[in-house]
Amino acid sequence: MSWRATVLTIFPEMLPGSLAYSLAGKALHAGAWRLDTVDIRDFAQDKHRSVDDAPFGGGPGMVMRPDVLDAAISGADGVGPLILLSPRGRRLDQAKVADLAAGPGIRLVCGRFEGVDERVVEARAIEELSLGDFVLSGGEPAAIALIDACVRLLPGVVGDSEALTEESFADGLLEYPQYTRPQMWRGRLVPDVLVSGDHARIRDWRRAEAERLTRERRGDLWERYRAARRPAIGGDQASNRKVEQ
Ligand SMILES: C[S@@+](CC[C@H](N)C(=O)[O-])C[C@H]1O[C@@H](n2cnc3c(N)ncnc32)[C@H](O)[C@@H]1O
Repeated sequence: MSWRATVLTIFPEMLPGSLAYSLAGKALHAGAWRLDTVDIRDFAQDKHRSVDDAPFGGGPGMVMRPDVLDAAISGADGVGPLILLSPRGRRLDQAKVADLAAGPGIRLVCGRFEGVDERVVEARAIEELSLGDFVLSGGEPAAIALIDACVRLLPGVVGDSEALTEESFADGLLEYPQYTRPQMWRGRLVPDVLVSGDHARIRDWRRAEAERLTRERRGDLWERYRAARRPAIGGDQASNRKVEQ
């Protein structure tokens, strides 16, 4: 059984979008994963196919109706956790992506307008996931990003599986800097160590660079990484303190 993504949206024509290209597109074509879209409007109950209405309490914009969305969820044939893309959700990270990719699939609800009536989120126990602290105009680009991140972790999708273990977040660090030809470009030379052929030195240099970049750019990740590497109880606390200064 292939991994499945089911996307509930009022714009099914936005899918597969970029997922039809490159690695994800090839894998989709080869049957490594499957994509289904559900048009939420098909579950509207009036002749105008309305999916939204004005917010109780007043205020700008429109809100997606709980009855229509609930009917769409019931009518959707998919597997895996039911997720609403939402700026109020838990921030997506690589650990969560790996978790979702390891399961049978995901069912994604794309919000539009001012969002979704709270009652359907509660009644369906929908998990909310955010792409970051910014507001998109709809959940579809977020759904595409989430599916893309999951699909590249499916077995065989990325040809060289080492590429996955080496990249940003795989071990809690940002990725080290990468270089390719030409060796000299605008007076800038590729670091000597990378053309030394000494694999142990290259590995050490890359690890040190990954640590430096993470420390400089992402204090949150760096603290977590350091905490995870602290010696267990009974370890050498004196030397540990020295390293941390
Ligand atoms: C214009 S936004 C609604 C924003 C909402 N009124 C708020 O202030 O939180 C419409 C839809 O875009 C999607 N969306 C917007 N920003 C997102 C983000 N950072 N991550 C995931 N989905 C997002 C959600 O599905 C949301 O329901």
